[in-house]
Amino acid sequence: MEEDPVNLREFQELAKRKLPKMSYDYISGGAEDQFTLRENVEAFQRIMLRPRILVDVSKIDTSSTLLGHKMSSPILVAPTGSQQLAHPDGELATARAAAACNTIQVLSFASDYTLEEVASSCDAVRFFQLYVFKGRDVAAAVVQRAERNGYKAIVLTADTPRLGRREADIKNKLIIPMNRNVEGLMSVDIHTTGGSGLEAFASKTLDPSLSWKDIEWLKSITRLPIIVKGVLTAEDAIKAVEVGVSGIIVSNHGARQLDYTPATITVLEEVVKAVSGSVPVLLDGGVRRGTDVFKALALGAKAVMIGRPVVYGLAAKGEDGVKRVITMLQKELELTMALAGCPTLKDITRNHVMVPHQKPR
Ligand code: FNR
Repeated sequence: MEEDPVNLREFQELAKRKLPKMSYDYISGGAEDQFTLRENVEAFQRIMLRPRILVDVSKIDTSSTLLGHKMSSPILVAPTGSQQLAHPDGELATARAAAACNTIQVLSFASDYTLEEVASSCDAVRFFQLYVFKGRDVAAAVVQRAERNGYKAIVLTADTPRLGRREADIKNKLIIPMNRNVEGLMSVDIHTTGGSGLEAFASKTLDPSLSWKDIEWLKSITRLPIIVKGVLTAEDAIKAVEVGVSGIIVSNHGARQLDYTPATITVLEEVVKAVSGSVPVLLDGGVRRGTDVFKALALGAKAVMIGRPVVYGLAAKGEDGVKRVITMLQKELELTMALAGCPTLKDITRNHVMVPHQKPR
């Protein structure tokens, strides 16, 4: 009988056994030396908890809101592309699992099911992640379709003017299917003479001239709130607020873009202080335990997102696997809150964590 994972790391092991090497490497890998990939996880492990005792924790409430939308916990599903590499049901399974867990799925621009197919798969609050391609008309068309199909926010990924160098994908000559959301809007020859097919596609499509002034343009083509993903410094957090975004995601793209950026949890507080409550700050990268979620909340995050664990759940057990990954993390958070003396999310404060002097490894 197939074993039952008891934590997110065991889901990763199961996924590794089930997936072809090319797919597993694409999902699990990071850029270049993968220093930041390890750091994202290990920086959480350097933060200790300061639990309070003799607090009535007979009822724990993990429920939260984001931009006015209710969620059962402050854990969202991060956008991850090409989910059919993990399972034939891909983003549809993830959508149903997220809806069943009462959380928000951020659908990737690079999804294997179209944004319309995902929207009609089940009723739920969901956001749409945007990459801006050269020419802008593709982005404009896709954003307007997302708005028409009931997506509630645009998550603009701002850390990918070009694709990071993911060496496993280069070696494996990664083949990805053509982006379904741009079908009929553009044609790109993704034939490569070797190397990563994703790299070849990205270099032909991504617009490296995208800059802060384009947030105005984005605001002019949609009424949806805009959340900027990929902020790692106070300077950029302040800029994001100045140009009028509705939220910030502290992210290094799961360590898949620029290697030797700091672990996201180590720069969260800097960003939170810079925006001083004007917009919600989210974090992703390396969240693998309920204690990690708790630590991020203690350092000022409104919520966290999980990327790889969801895809591992999908690879291991389809829709049910994603449900179990999200539920497992929610339950771990709930237990952490009880053991730390925090019956509600509001009770989690900066005093509940001990952060070491910020020196990487
Ligand atoms: C990603 N990520 C990502 N981000 C984005 O904005 N658009 C995308 O299409 C993708 N695609 C993608 C695919 C895969 C396989 C992974 C692992 C990641 C990054 C993602 O949204 C998120 O920032 C990280 O995954 C968070 O880190 P963890 O949770 O994977 O450690």
